[in-house]
Amino acid sequence: MYDLIILGGGPAGYNAAERAAHHGMKTLVCEERALGGVCLNEGCIPTKTLLYSAKIFDYANHGDKYGVTVEGAKIDHAKVVDRKDKVVKTLVSGVAAKMKGAGVTVVDGTAKITGKTANGFTVECKGETYEAAKLLICTGSEAVIPPIPGLRDSYEAGLAVTNREILDIRVLPKRVVVVGGGVIGLEMASYFNSVGSEVTVVEMLNKIAGPTEAEISSILEKNYTKKGVKFVLGAKVAAVNGKPGEGVVEYEKDGKIEKIDCDLVLVSTGRRARTKGIGLEEIGVQMNRGAVVTDDQCKTSVPGIWAAGDVNGKVMLAHTAYREGEVAVSDMMGIRDRVDYRSIPSVIYTNPEVGSVGETLESAKASGFDAAEVTLSLRYSGRYIAENEGGDGIVKVVYGKEHNQILGVHMIGNYASEIIFGAAAMVAKEQRVADVQKIVFPHPTVCEVIREAMFTI
Ligand code: NAI
Repeated sequence: MYDLIILGGGPAGYNAAERAAHHGMKTLVCEERALGGVCLNEGCIPTKTLLYSAKIFDYANHGDKYGVTVEGAKIDHAKVVDRKDKVVKTLVSGVAAKMKGAGVTVVDGTAKITGKTANGFTVECKGETYEAAKLLICTGSEAVIPPIPGLRDSYEAGLAVTNREILDIRVLPKRVVVVGGGVIGLEMASYFNSVGSEVTVVEMLNKIAGPTEAEISSILEKNYTKKGVKFVLGAKVAAVNGKPGEGVVEYEKDGKIEKIDCDLVLVSTGRRARTKGIGLEEIGVQMNRGAVVTDDQCKTSVPGIWAAGDVNGKVMLAHTAYREGEVAVSDMMGIRDRVDYRSIPSVIYTNPEVGSVGETLESAKASGFDAAEVTLSLRYSGRYIAENEGGDGIVKVVYGKEHNQILGVHMIGNYASEIIFGAAAMVAKEQRVADVQKIVFPHPTVCEVIREAMFTI
């Protein structure tokens, strides 16, 4: 008998397992693929490994602006993929060691909730039945393959790939079409552009990067257009046909059908919660559009069952999953805690990077705030100028006019991925402009522009 069984060993699951064990709960994690989940095995970490190699290659190719010329720089994609595999392996074994160290039992297999007992629930995994007082559902999400004519066959044929398969291709495609200009699409477009593939991004909306603040999204688009990525916006993909090296993507724009020949198609049109076949409906867990409904304590509609991570379909980010896993365990222990969904930062690891947290001016107004924003060029930072020849990065601070409280910060420019954490603290702590003005920022840094922005309010 366990105190807790966790279905899924990704960021939500393994982090919650460690917390639960720390609180003295006898904990079991069931994981059907690999500890670390999508983030570690086919998401955040492998993509960042690839993008880092691309960045080094970019620096080698474009160093002349900084007085550095590198002759004959080459990128060996197969070697980059080998290194990615090594990084993933190191981190996955790190998670396994963490589980072992915490005294968490891990079973490799697909878990299914099979029933309710007087003391809790039964779960079947790898032919064994386990019982626990509490369950935590952390089964994550999977890429959606939309019902576009020919796409499923193209996927089976290997022409079309998702974020999973694209990480393992060893021969660089000459021409890549990215279907969906969201986070995954843009990060992979960035990689393939850096390493020399011809990249076209076809996006249904009239802007890239989904909910990203409009001006920042447009700066990102300009940067990548300059680098040679072709964006086809306001275009819906109508068909994908062919096999690797001989693909055709058809899209409809302004009532006309156009075609693009390509070698590889990345499908990055969103992800959906993984909730099928694990016994959730049978036990009465309430769902909404295929995702588990949870409250701010990560409780589901069934007492004794919590859910954390992408499976709730709320904010599909690994760091949200970590926090939700922690909050679920706190709630199990009777500790007051909640997920503050307003202050979750998000990052796009393009070059330049995008970092955002909280409200945009538009969303703040829609939420009823009497809000305003200031926009400052990152060129207010000496370090930014020193390191970004011709850079056009900006930071935007959104604030409430009544109390001057920080509602959101949005930034495009390198280090944004690291800087945004400070802004998230400002939003989470509901700091006011005067509070931030008193914080000492290190000099010379790019983050100083946030401080500078405060003095223009
Ligand atoms: P997404 O939701 O970010 O973007 C999908 C895009 O595809 C949207 O802009 C949508 O308008 C477009 N689209 C949908 N159907 C289309 C069609 N038929 N033709 C053309 N465009 C179409 O989804 P994405 O990029 O697949 O990412 C999935 C999840 O993974 C997101 O929740 C994201 O937050 C997470 N993620 C986060 C990362 C990060 O934080 N850096 C990195 C990678 C993924």
